[in-house]
Amino acid sequence: MAGPGETVVAHAPGRVNLIGDHTDYTGGLVLPMAINLGTVVSGRRGGDRVVLRSSEEPEPAVVPLDVTDASAVPGWGRYVAGVVAELRPERGLVGEVSTTLPVGAGLSSSAALEVAVALALGFTGDAVGLAQCCQRAEQRASGVPCGIMDQLASAAGVEGHALLIDCHELRTEAVPLPDEAAVVVVHSGEPRGLAGTAYADRRAECEAAEAEIGPLRKATPADVGALADPVLRRRARHVVGENARVRDFAAALAGGDLRTAGDLMRASHASLRDDFAVSTSGLDALAERLVRTPGVYGARLTGAGFGGCVVALAEPGALTEGWTVRASGPASPS
Ligand code: GLA
Repeated sequence: MAGPGETVVAHAPGRVNLIGDHTDYTGGLVLPMAINLGTVVSGRRGGDRVVLRSSEEPEPAVVPLDVTDASAVPGWGRYVAGVVAELRPERGLVGEVSTTLPVGAGLSSSAALEVAVALALGFTGDAVGLAQCCQRAEQRASGVPCGIMDQLASAAGVEGHALLIDCHELRTEAVPLPDEAAVVVVHSGEPRGLAGTAYADRRAECEAAEAEIGPLRKATPADVGALADPVLRRRARHVVGENARVRDFAAALAGGDLRTAGDLMRASHASLRDDFAVSTSGLDALAERLVRTPGVYGARLTGAGFGGCVVALAEPGALTEGWTVRASGPASPS
């Protein structure tokens, strides 16, 4: 029987990735930032189920503590179930979820939900442990073999900074964002579709390339050139080039060189479009329109692609559409 338990409140930010997409699952480099849009889970601990209502969803998530197959739980409850299945808390939770994140836009609403639920259920480890637990929860829930970027950005955010993450070492380094740089996220209007299948295909293609030339995080352009299959060569060229762009972007940002940073974002978009084939005509048109706007340094699709959002780096006030986001601190229980 559920006795009255302690009240908990946990908050987790979403993230936007400034550069470095489809590199995390090969142990590469990414540069996301946690943002000032996020998810709050509040409630009372106790009982043998997790029951959460959401302002965004008609049905509550109802998850027994002994859940085994998270993907069989209906709707958004599967993400809650993924966390419960990973954490195996001794006590349940009855409460509410509220979010300022647009759901399914590519700003990691599911990662923010997982991280906030894990903290509300009493997770006590460090940021990397929290991110790993929630990455496994996401994989259980969605069946998508995602990397660790989204969950780690939410767990380890630093106010006013982007995070340079080495996804092999799981090391993060805070890179200050210059005051004269605004980060603006604009939705393409295309919901993310087919992400499940195509994402897994891309990951499998990277693994096939690695079976021939070794880890892509260590590969050189010459190694990539040795791949016989033209599709694998293009996929690998994206990953190797993107890792280099992340390094250069972090240096440009730290040096306040926003023009170079913007050029690298454009190159990243072109590579995701032409070599990695995860863009859409809507994302391409939006990114092109944004980079033609005066005061915009660069723009690119952000996250997995297949629809969702474009992120732009711009002079403050140059763009009046979308969400102007600030880099926020990490997820926290309170
Ligand atoms: C999704 C995944 C991340 C990452 C990006 C692409 O957001 O959850 O792990 O692979 O796509 O960079």
